[in-house]
Amino acid sequence: MAWRATRYGVAAIFTVAATGAFAQGYLLEHRIGFPDFGFMEAPGDYEGPVFVLSDDFPARIPELDAPVADILKIDFKTDPMRYVLAVRDYVFAGNIHGGAVSEDFILQNNTAGHDWYHVPWQHWGTTGREGYHGLTREGPLAAQVLHPDQDRSSYAYAVGFYNGPGGFTVGQVWPSPDQGPDLTHMIDAMEEGFAFPEGTVVGKFLFTSLGPDQVPWLADPLQWQAYIYDCDATDSSQCPQDMTGAPRSTHMVNLLQMDVMVKDSRAEEAAGWVFGTFAYNGGASQSEEWGDEYAAACADIEGPGKNWCNLMPVGVQWGNDPDNRTAFIDDKPTETRINTDLKETWINDDPALPAMHLGFNSRLNGPADNPTSSCMSCHATGQVASVSPIMPWLPPSNIPRPENGTEASEDWMRWFRNFADGEAFDQGEAISMDFSMQLTKSVENYIEYINATQKGHFALEYWGNAGAHPVSRGALESSD
Ligand code: HEC
Repeated sequence: MAWRATRYGVAAIFTVAATGAFAQGYLLEHRIGFPDFGFMEAPGDYEGPVFVLSDDFPARIPELDAPVADILKIDFKTDPMRYVLAVRDYVFAGNIHGGAVSEDFILQNNTAGHDWYHVPWQHWGTTGREGYHGLTREGPLAAQVLHPDQDRSSYAYAVGFYNGPGGFTVGQVWPSPDQGPDLTHMIDAMEEGFAFPEGTVVGKFLFTSLGPDQVPWLADPLQWQAYIYDCDATDSSQCPQDMTGAPRSTHMVNLLQMDVMVKDSRAEEAAGWVFGTFAYNGGASQSEEWGDEYAAACADIEGPGKNWCNLMPVGVQWGNDPDNRTAFIDDKPTETRINTDLKETWINDDPALPAMHLGFNSRLNGPADNPTSSCMSCHATGQVASVSPIMPWLPPSNIPRPENGTEASEDWMRWFRNFADGEAFDQGEAISMDFSMQLTKSVENYIEYINATQKGHFALEYWGNAGAHPVSRGALESSD
């Protein structure tokens, strides 16, 4: 990797002089640790910043950043809007610089003094990270899932990141690039709770090659370059079943959704997690009525970076409402149906919010997410081995999807339970990854890598139904 140090060292100096902002350079990779990405233009074909994994994990749980201490004092049940905007603004703080948006969210350049980290081992496999911003290929965006006019299907590409307390736990599981994952900390935490410490904040951006012609609320987009599969840029229904070797090239992708998770011990029903999500709303932000509350954090940002504030809160979830079971699943969002019987989900009732399908019975879910699920429902399955699938209708469970208006079965409602901190979805059969899907996926990727390169297997591959259904967001279509 020495070539890169020299090359981008020079590029960095040039960019700093040219824009006064920051750029990537060898200073970000003083330790050649985990691989940064899996797919990128060849080095000779591209000159410019590339994604550098932020993997200098803290060896001890760091003190809370001041904004996090404040967030943990806001009551998410009575003041969910203020809570979720405070989380968004903390994610933004020091990561948006007011120059080219491609330079935003280079975590190592945070100017607010906040440390943020990526999860290793997301580079591997056909869904692995691309080299501009570390985006992984996520779940499918089937036709009409975002808007009734959307007639092309595509995929979401996403990058997630953990703050200091979260980075501590990631570093416990991934102590060194020279060894496999160490699950000791996660096993201990199943007794003691807090695999992720109080004040862990996780952020995640989802992008898509779909644009405002398909999804009107993607107007005035915030765009990144991404090295994605060509078939995802045209129509993913044309993609081959096996993506090994499928062609990729550089395409523009548009910001679609932002997700957040906060470890907040007051969320007792949700194993101490609060989930929140945002939808991009480029059109509405041009209108007079656009709330100042959404835009305040970007008031001082010049240029296209202002558009980060087009991310509008969809809702907050602090439990899975286990008793709410008269089924309603919305496959095509024409209006946002707020279920006022839910006690552990709040949905933004601002009429400016684009129509959202939400999740099962209108529990919180983002526009890119499968409408049969919910944030908490899917993330609760984050465990090693993946004994149960991420959604009830997937194999090997194959639980039939309830018809709208009927009572969902006990089996279906296993995916809509609440959990104690540290409790695994299949308690006694698997190690809880404390709702972290990236940690789950990183361990899964590592096992697959060893299977492929060393022709070796691990005992845990034989636990439960492991391996039958790789972790992936949204996966496949819903099976009705
Ligand atoms: C059907 C499954 C599914 C649903 C529903 C879902 N997620 Fe996730 N989420 C995933 C998977 C899988 C990953 C990690 C792998 C990846 O990024 O592709 C992930 C990653 C994340 C991350 C990065 C941290 C982590 O866990 O690794 C955050 C934050 C997140 N999701 C929040 C949310 C929120 C908020 C919602 C609801 C609005 C939601 N998710 C709904 C499956 C899901």
